[in-house]
Amino acid sequence: MTTTRPAALVTGASRGIGLAIAERLAAAGHDLTICARGGDALAAAGVRLAALGAAVRAESADMAAEDDVRGLARAHEDAYGRLDVLVVAAGVGTAGPVDTAPLHRFDKQFAVNVRAPYTLVQALLPTLRATAAARPDHGVKIIMLSSLTGAFPEPGLAAYGASKAALISLCRSLNAELSADGVTATAICPGYVDTDMSAWVHDRIDPADMIRTADVAELAMSLTRLSSRAVVSELVVTRPGGQLHRA
Ligand SMILES: NC(=O)c1ccc[n+]([C@@H]2O[C@H](COP(=O)([O-])OP(=O)(O)OC[C@H]3O[C@@H](n4cnc5c(N)ncnc54)[C@H](OP(=O)(O)O)[C@@H]3O)[C@@H](O)[C@H]2O)c1
Repeated sequence: MTTTRPAALVTGASRGIGLAIAERLAAAGHDLTICARGGDALAAAGVRLAALGAAVRAESADMAAEDDVRGLARAHEDAYGRLDVLVVAAGVGTAGPVDTAPLHRFDKQFAVNVRAPYTLVQALLPTLRATAAARPDHGVKIIMLSSLTGAFPEPGLAAYGASKAALISLCRSLNAELSADGVTATAICPGYVDTDMSAWVHDRIDPADMIRTADVAELAMSLTRLSSRAVVSELVVTRPGGQLHRA
């Protein structure tokens, strides 16, 4: 390991849940690599995070492009030589009924929501293993933003839900393969969180009634504090009310 401070990589960190988690990681003493496609928002996030005392590497990268995903992994390794926390927050979702939803949207959601996280973990695995071996009591944490729709079906969100169900399965499989070596993975599965992504349901769900980004960030931080003995494959987070398993 080339640095003494813990290092985290957060995808989708220019806004929303990813930025909220990155802020908490920075405040807790992590150095960071952050990514998103949009350069201006990413640069602004980098400035905010650096003000919290973190070294920040901001990489403009499209998680739909394999070369960008691999380049992001290399950039993080070159900067820090260790990876204590990997947060996969970059994600896309489009709604539409199964009979008419176009396949290119299915492909995009699976590329960003499933293929990219799998590729990122694969590329970073030597660094994850080495970091875990250097701190065996604590290990390293992979945190993936799945969704409640990955655990419970929601009409109109079949492709998105399937991609998020795949992330839950991926975290379980990663734990089966890697947790004995101190590399553990958790899929956080929230219902609607008040971010740009959930704005399309504002006509039927008041954003004030949605889960807060701070709630999701709090869960993510608690995962980072677990010992390597505790494996949490998924965390389901619902909104209050009678329809607990509706996003
Ligand atoms: N909000 C919810 O209700 C909710 C509920 C359950 C789960 N989730 C999941 O939580 C995660 C974060 O959601 P959010 O609500 O924070 O979304 P958001 O506010 O829309 O932010 C998404 C972030 O991901 C980045 N991103 C999107 N597409 C990308 C791509 N192809 N390559 C790289 N970065 C990309 C965005 O930046 P650029 O656009 O600049 O690339 C942004 O930084 C997602 O995986 C989402 O599916 C959200």
